[in-house]
Amino acid sequence: MKKILITGASGQLGSELMKLFDDREFRVFGTYNTKKPKSFPRKKIFRLDLSKEQEIRDAIKSIRPDNIIHCAAMTNVDECEKYPNIAHNINAKSTEVISELAEELGSRMLYVSTDFVFDGLDGNYDESHETKPIQVYGKTKLRGEEAVRKMTEDSYCIVRTSVVFGPDPGNFVSWVTESLRLGKRIQIVDDQFVTPTYSVDLAEKISMLVTKSKNGFWNVACSNRLSRFEMAGIISNTLGVGSDSIKTAKMADMEWSAMRPTDSSLNTEKIDTEHRTISFEDCLERMYR
Ligand SMILES: NC(=O)c1ccc[n+]([C@@H]2O[C@H](COP(=O)([O-])OP(=O)(O)OC[C@H]3O[C@@H](n4cnc5c(N)ncnc54)[C@H](OP(=O)(O)O)[C@@H]3O)[C@@H](O)[C@H]2O)c1
Repeated sequence: MKKILITGASGQLGSELMKLFDDREFRVFGTYNTKKPKSFPRKKIFRLDLSKEQEIRDAIKSIRPDNIIHCAAMTNVDECEKYPNIAHNINAKSTEVISELAEELGSRMLYVSTDFVFDGLDGNYDESHETKPIQVYGKTKLRGEEAVRKMTEDSYCIVRTSVVFGPDPGNFVSWVTESLRLGKRIQIVDDQFVTPTYSVDLAEKISMLVTKSKNGFWNVACSNRLSRFEMAGIISNTLGVGSDSIKTAKMADMEWSAMRPTDSSLNTEKIDTEHRTISFEDCLERMYR
């Protein structure tokens, strides 16, 4: 039976991947750092701190996975800006160690990267567009990509995604949903454009890429490019609640430590040929069902 290792199994994406991989087909291993996820029968969950190189080496050498899906990362963009050395260790250095080990052991590797590798001046980025990150988070994730690209060409896959959301708290969509349900006044920027991504759909597409042993770069997101403000409007429509409590703001008004790209929307034509890309509206319908 093939062995699959999912880092960041306690995160939005990793937890969906843990549910998705069938334990009759794979022996599934998942890691967490601070939040121990609920256990799955016949799937092994263990703690792995990515800042500890020896821990990573010991874990991967003892499992010898056929596939590694590396989702774990320091994802708070402003925290990365404040603590660049920690961000480098978690996002870049750990990926260097994991990809070197994967190469040594002959494991296939799928690395989850971000739209923040782009500067946001163009938008609609396809897989071959030049990268130019403008904040620490994007720079450290790009270093991760560079490490993975040193592997043998047919043994890795890099998935870039954007504004991941799901039903659990801690993401933009769940924050807007909760605020609208409570009638709380919220301010949302109308000058930042993204292609949001539903965690369940992302996990399904990643599972397809792993199962079909696909290589190279893949953008995975919803089909529509939206401003954050437009996203909030669609959320209020889908919920059937008024949108009067949503006020517009500009990125310049925000007290963010890190710069955000103006338009980091991803072009999803390539993944659409393998697994149909769906709209933000359809993802919300699916999530609220
Ligand atoms: N969220 C987004 O909007 C977004 C957008 C583009 C790309 N991405 C990429 O997509 C991937 C998955 O994102 P996500 O939204 O699922 O992230 P998430 O919900 O923030 O989860 C992050 C995961 O990384 C783990 N982690 C953080 N620091 C760690 C450390 N020092 N050692 C070991 N594990 C650590 C966390 O463990 P604990 O929770 O147990 O501490 C958690 O399992 C990431 O690689 C991210 O860069 C995300």
